[in-house]
Amino acid sequence: MLMINTETKNAHLKLPNNEKSSPNFDEIFRKAIQEVPVGIVITNAQAKDNPIIYCNKTFCKLTGYNPNEVLGRNCRFLQGPKTNPETIALIRRAIEKAEPVKTLILNYRKDGSTFWNELQIYPVFNDEGRLTYFMGTQIDISTKMELFESVMNAKHEWLITADAINDLIILTDADGKIIRCNKATATFFNSDFPKLIGSSVRELFASTTFDSKDDAEDLLLVTKAEFQFTDRTGYYEISNYPITVNGNLTKRVHLVRDMTSQKEMIAQLEWLNKAIQQAFDSIVITDTNGNVEQVNKSFERKTKWKNSEIVGLNLFELYFEPSSKDIIAEIQSKVLNGQVWDGEYISKRKDGERLYEEATISPIKDEAGKITRLLHIQRDVTEKKQLEAIAEAINLSENIGYIFAGIRHEIGNPLNSAKTALNVLRKNIQQWPCEKIVEYVDRSLSEMERIEYLLQTLKSFNLYEDVELKPVRIYDFICNFVKTAQKNLEDKGIRIFFDSEEDCKDVTVSLDSRAFYHVLMNIMSNAVDALEEEETPFIRIRLWQTNSTVNVSISDNGCGMSQEQLNNLFKPFYTSKKHGTGLGLVICKKMLAKMNAFIFISSRNKDNASLNSELGAKGTTVHIAFSV
Ligand SMILES: Cc1cc2nc3c(=O)[nH]c(=O)nc-3n(C[C@H](O)[C@H](O)[C@H](O)COP(=O)(O)O)c2cc1C
Repeated sequence: MLMINTETKNAHLKLPNNEKSSPNFDEIFRKAIQEVPVGIVITNAQAKDNPIIYCNKTFCKLTGYNPNEVLGRNCRFLQGPKTNPETIALIRRAIEKAEPVKTLILNYRKDGSTFWNELQIYPVFNDEGRLTYFMGTQIDISTKMELFESVMNAKHEWLITADAINDLIILTDADGKIIRCNKATATFFNSDFPKLIGSSVRELFASTTFDSKDDAEDLLLVTKAEFQFTDRTGYYEISNYPITVNGNLTKRVHLVRDMTSQKEMIAQLEWLNKAIQQAFDSIVITDTNGNVEQVNKSFERKTKWKNSEIVGLNLFELYFEPSSKDIIAEIQSKVLNGQVWDGEYISKRKDGERLYEEATISPIKDEAGKITRLLHIQRDVTEKKQLEAIAEAINLSENIGYIFAGIRHEIGNPLNSAKTALNVLRKNIQQWPCEKIVEYVDRSLSEMERIEYLLQTLKSFNLYEDVELKPVRIYDFICNFVKTAQKNLEDKGIRIFFDSEEDCKDVTVSLDSRAFYHVLMNIMSNAVDALEEEETPFIRIRLWQTNSTVNVSISDNGCGMSQEQLNNLFKPFYTSKKHGTGLGLVICKKMLAKMNAFIFISSRNKDNASLNSELGAKGTTVHIAFSV
């Protein structure tokens, strides 16, 4: 069905004059025009305001109007408030000049919705060359436009993003001519964006500090390089990315980043790292669980652990004495609450030898305030402890009143028992049988012997009052001591071992040989007593040195001691042995103090498993440290 305006129905529609056209051709042609997927309108150029005299089905479908609503009207009814007036003016001028026109115009459908109309208008002339009609075609390209808009938006966003970046971004063609660059690039080279386009990127980098031109050119070809400009301060890093299409280089992206502050930060960190490495105190950084991340040189020297060996291991488990469990719990609760822990603990070197340390453990927080690491600063106070022990020992030996009270008690008791026994004997001597008299005399004599033994021990308390200190090669000294003791120990089934660090073999210590021998004998005899019930008894002597001390330890795998015994070890007259005087270790401590050494004893038995000994389940370790 061809729709023709009634007012203009007499107007002649000039269709192609084809020789071979059949009588039905016009009909076929009209039908075909109805069906083409392009909107078609024909207007009467002769009538006032160019009224529509024909529109096809596609036009109706596209605009939502039916033919009756359209015929006789000018096409501008398709325009609306957002239609560009400049486009309308362009069409108007073309129509006035009877020229063809092709444009893109925003049109409105009957329901008010909009679409992008790719409009073409052609003037149609009659045989006399007079303008008679206009034919217009409409194609809806809204989808294409949306796509175009989104591409344009994306491109725009990319440009905004590139401009927001402080690094320089330069896109060049394969010959190094600048195609595009971001704002930062233009500002950096004191230029305008348009001026840079088309210029050579090599010229921009001409002032780099390279010796040869080739090197400077390589700068734009290598994947990554650091460089400087001669005419400005600072350090820069360039990254170059080639863009290839089908294997051919088409473009290059050059990214330049100012590394000055980063370099300064690295330099500062290097300084800090040097300071940490060279610090006198040991420094350890762990995660919040105590897993080691880094240790400094001082820690390596002190503990014999290498940074590479200890990283990843747990400091609390590995380095702290197991007896420090409570301390570890206290440290963790404090530092994980953001506080600093200050205190002392006993730790061990890689070879298991004991260290006495003062430490400060502080939480390290990240920018969000979350605790991520712990900083341990440790100071070896073995020497300080030693001095304290010496002071304590000297103080003890000066506390004569206390010692006399002890002596009065220790001698008074057997004396009283003997006196009582003799008095009873005196009263009954007439009527008692001979055996009873002998029993009472023996009882009195045994009390006298006890007094005699005590007096002998007291003699040795003063024995080495004035020690004679001479340099002694301690390794040789202990070797001789072990040789002397060996026979006696072997008879008792006790094995003895002596381990020494290689570098201790020539070390000399200032000591009084007789006094030190006495001390070693005393400790050995305690060990032998402790090993009485042991099936595979042994004694191990070790010798090693730290920065400031030479150390000897004597360990046994005997019955060990309770916490109470340990607490009272150095109290005069305290003894857990049947026939002990409670003076042996007091005397040892005093003698060692005179030789600038201190003694520390750790032990564990079945009741006191929390305390450590290198010997496993039970045993005792006596540690003697000489100041050097
Ligand atoms: C054959 C023909 C088809 C036209 N089709 C459209 C159309 O689809 N959409 C539109 O906005 N304008 C179309 N126009 C243009 C308007 O009819 C009109 O010429 C234009 O708005 C400029 O004139 P004005 O400034 O008098 O409005 C067409 C014009 C002709 C002659």
